[in-house]
Amino acid sequence: MAASRLVVLVSGSGTNLQALLDAIDAHPGGSEGFGAEVVAVGADRANIAGLERAEKAGIPTFVCPVKDYGSRVEWDAALTAATDAYAPDLVVSAGFMKIVGKEFIDRFGGRFVNTHPALLPAFPGAHGVRDALAYGAKVTGCTVHFVDSGVDTGPIIAQGVVEVRDEDDEAALHERIKEVERKLLVDVVGRLARHGYRIEGRKVTIQ
Ligand code: GRF
Repeated sequence: MAASRLVVLVSGSGTNLQALLDAIDAHPGGSEGFGAEVVAVGADRANIAGLERAEKAGIPTFVCPVKDYGSRVEWDAALTAATDAYAPDLVVSAGFMKIVGKEFIDRFGGRFVNTHPALLPAFPGAHGVRDALAYGAKVTGCTVHFVDSGVDTGPIIAQGVVEVRDEDDEAALHERIKEVERKLLVDVVGRLARHGYRIEGRKVTIQ
């Protein structure tokens, strides 16, 4: 069985992308190894480390800045087309900071995975780490989930717990979360690719 084709979407440093690239390099051999290959990396902005990581690995990239399009719907259509051009089996949002629209979800729903730096349904949205800290949560963490039409509301695949420390600021806590998140994302994407999965309502079962 051929390795699953992944398109990874990024908006920043791309350390989650790098964790996937490193895992694939460490387990070559297509479906006998990690079970997936990154065929393209997409972003909503240029000049980010995430794109440099892809270029360094010789992986094609595409950039769809929202401001380049007349409307959000046109941006969504362009992002969908750019992603579709690589015929992904799975799309992974790894720090992609835009909410995709209906066309993208219609095209990739059920095979579009996101990683979020909080224990959903707690603290969804763009500031999950800051919100957990401000709330005084004693534990937080990260969630890998399928993306649905809501914001961080799709069926949960896996979660990792991270203790909040008294001395934490947002950056320190987020860095500790990312250590857990990178391992979780690599584990989940590899298992989804190698074993296949079922989504029934809110329940995800990896075969
Ligand atoms: C991750 O923690 C992700 O959950 C959040 O932004 C961070 C991206 O980190 N949305 P990186 O770009 O993968 O280093």
